[in-house]
Amino acid sequence: MKNFITAEKITRGELEDIYTIADDIKRDKNKYRTALSGYVIATLFYEPSTRTRLSFESSIQRLGAAVISTENARENASAKKGESLEDTIRIVQGYSDMIILRHFDVHSAERALSVAKVPIINAGSGGGEHPTQGLLDIYTIREYRGKVDGTSIAVMGDLKYGRTAHSMLKLISLYDGITVYGFSVKGLELPDYYKDFLAAKKVKYIECKAFTDIPTDVNFIYQTRVQTERIEDADLKIEEMILNKENFARFSDSTYLLHPLPRVDKIASDLDDDKRSIYFNQAHNGIPTRMALIYYIFNDFYNLGVIHADKRTK
Ligand code: CP
Repeated sequence: MKNFITAEKITRGELEDIYTIADDIKRDKNKYRTALSGYVIATLFYEPSTRTRLSFESSIQRLGAAVISTENARENASAKKGESLEDTIRIVQGYSDMIILRHFDVHSAERALSVAKVPIINAGSGGGEHPTQGLLDIYTIREYRGKVDGTSIAVMGDLKYGRTAHSMLKLISLYDGITVYGFSVKGLELPDYYKDFLAAKKVKYIECKAFTDIPTDVNFIYQTRVQTERIEDADLKIEEMILNKENFARFSDSTYLLHPLPRVDKIASDLDDDKRSIYFNQAHNGIPTRMALIYYIFNDFYNLGVIHADKRTK
């Protein structure tokens, strides 16, 4: 695997290989602290970020590589002077050995890949995908349930522009016996493309008309924020569902609550102490999973030979 542009292309074997490395990193972070020493990785962020950029930059440094970064590339890089994304990639690849890109264009990662001579990781592409968020989401599901096969998950909020939900759904479809309940804000239902994708992967997708249609014994609730920055339809009446202690009480003791964050106010703080609220641990899983992903891609792209064929799942 030489890039990570979309959650659609990765295989279950590759995903499990990355999770095996992430488990190893969790057991012993120091083991990898010089693994990529001498390499330079660029983070190019054209949209705001706290978790993705900082956990990537922390991961890069924990692997012993150096990081060069543009925090607000839309304003502070040459995009402001009219430089195309493609030209920026052509330049930055001469300064770095990998580019991690967040951009407002749905097709940005593919555009970057079309001109890049170094690996590209998609760190969020408009209302399209956010595959590394999906990577840590599924890792968190695997960690709390002990397995991913047979998982039931309710996805709530903005299923139209919610790129984290899109990538998470694509990755979970690699597993068997998955049931997804979709409960969206009116007008922001899951696009047909994703419904067809899930059907083709034999994932059971059930659209819920009401919050109470979500079964109380569902394994996970995946709450999302409405992507107001991407919504152009002025007539859209958004009624958002806020999860709190009262309405979450109907779920079982083993129903975990996930959120890619920022939660803004979509999960009340009275749920933070509930043992089923695992969204902060989920965000912290960004470190082992992103370290593992970078290490895995470097191994394949630069033929480092540090992950031997017999250590791979498939
Ligand atoms: N989950 C996520 O993408 O958060 P940031 O926007 O802070 O990176």
